[in-house]
Amino acid sequence: MTVVVTGASGRMGRTVLDLAAERGVKTIAVSRSETADADTACHPEDLPAVLSEQPADALVDFTVPAASVEFLEACVDTGTPAVIGTTGFDEAELARIDRASERIPVLRAANFARGVQALLALVREAADSLPGYDVELTETHHNGKRDAPSGTATTLLDAIEETTDATERVHGREGRQPRSDGEIGVHVRRAGSVHGEHEVLFAGNDEVLTLTHRAESRRVFAAGALDAAAWLHGRDAGQYTFSEVVEDR
Ligand SMILES: NC(=O)c1ccc[n+]([C@@H]2O[C@H](COP(=O)([O-])OP(=O)(O)OC[C@H]3O[C@@H](n4cnc5c(N)ncnc54)[C@H](OP(=O)(O)O)[C@@H]3O)[C@@H](O)[C@H]2O)c1
Repeated sequence: MTVVVTGASGRMGRTVLDLAAERGVKTIAVSRSETADADTACHPEDLPAVLSEQPADALVDFTVPAASVEFLEACVDTGTPAVIGTTGFDEAELARIDRASERIPVLRAANFARGVQALLALVREAADSLPGYDVELTETHHNGKRDAPSGTATTLLDAIEETTDATERVHGREGRQPRSDGEIGVHVRRAGSVHGEHEVLFAGNDEVLTLTHRAESRRVFAAGALDAAAWLHGRDAGQYTFSEVVEDR
């Protein structure tokens, strides 16, 4: 398998390249710098030409939204399946991803850790079993993370809102701000080199339930993205989810 790795000098890009090398997966690194270590390397502007000459089985993207949607256009032009781990897309960028998925297979996930898929299922179950309980979400990431709350936090909040009557997201609290029914408190921490922690707390009826996931290394995300790339190769155009990869085992 040959995988294109964009943002190759970034935190995730480097981790994906390292893991791909360990797995014997060939890589084409796409980077604005020359530090990337891969079988082949190119500048982002040259990606369309490189993909036309040297077809790849999938692209794995952990960059920034504006760059991610540009890389996706190169995938559409060359029929390359795309795995997108970048987070923080706006509505217009999401619409571009939707359009691309009419032409090529696209798998976008805010979190490629398998444990987060289990967390999502457990949070849905807890929210369903504990109606009326207060719900608070806390997430912690390294001090270089750009978007807040994290894409994973947003996915968890969507799941809670689908299952409970709590739909009002309150981001932090300050001053005189008593809690009201229907609130979901959202708390974001950015510090040090934390790879990613998400905790959902349910409290009521004189009890507290907390469900927590902690990524101990970026390798968990890289592994999930490479598994997704292998799974996506050869599929029809459309949008796929990481839960489909996990369920397929
Ligand atoms: N889905 C998941 O499981 C998961 C897990 C972790 C992180 N993420 C997300 O993945 C993304 C990247 O995270 P990270 O920690 O690896 O960030 P990072 O260390 O800042 O790396 C991002 C890389 O993107 C490339 N880039 C940035 N701006 C660009 C531009 N304008 N044009 C082209 N390339 C550009 C750069 O690589 P070059 O200099 O090499 O071009 C940069 O090093 C974030 O959105 C983060 O939230 C998702």
